[in-house]
Amino acid sequence: MPKKKSPAQLQREIDEALTSKPAKRLTSLSDNPAKWAAMTDNWSAEQRKTKKTSNFKKYVLHWYPIDQDTWQMWATLGDEVVASLFYGKNSPADVTLEGAIEVHPEHRRKGLATAMYSWAEKLSGMKMAPAAQHTKDAAAFWTSYRNK
Ligand SMILES: CC(C)(COP(=O)(O)OP(=O)(O)OC[C@H]1O[C@@H](n2cnc3c(N)ncnc32)[C@H](O)[C@@H]1OP(=O)(O)O)[C@@H](O)C(=O)NCCC(=O)NCCS
Repeated sequence: MPKKKSPAQLQREIDEALTSKPAKRLTSLSDNPAKWAAMTDNWSAEQRKTKKTSNFKKYVLHWYPIDQDTWQMWATLGDEVVASLFYGKNSPADVTLEGAIEVHPEHRRKGLATAMYSWAEKLSGMKMAPAAQHTKDAAAFWTSYRNK
């Protein structure tokens, strides 16, 4: 099980990332270790909502509805949150789903986003569609995902 980092260690990592050379700088909030620590802290309250789980490699995916047209999925490794997908229909008439996904920087390029989108599609019977505007990472991910 991954060892929980102390607040002091997290602060050191954030300071280092914020002041280091451009190549190592945080490029988005999803890269911020404090964000992932906060998500993991909230996870103990959230996990009782879980309606379905699925295993993917060493990760566990957790799913629950927020309302009729909106759902939340988490990925955990041990008791750490490593990915979050909030997704839904833009309107009740929509036949596609749009998602806001973030994967922990240390767990990217391991197939997590692909596994979460695929499971979301399987559960709803609808296809995920790219947002009108997205990040550089999301554009690269979609180039791969739309060819699956
Ligand atoms: C976009 C993001 C969610 C992708 O998650 P992921 O779990 O790393 O994606 P996957 O491992 O399923 O990627 C599948 C394929 O997509 C492509 N891909 C994904 N991210 C890529 C990147 N940054 N650069 C190039 N190709 C990429 C690759 O072909 C990859 O397969 P490969 O690793 O075998 O080459 C992740 O990079 C992330 O959280 N980024 C920061 C937050 C963000 O931008 N979110 C999207 C806005 S909603």
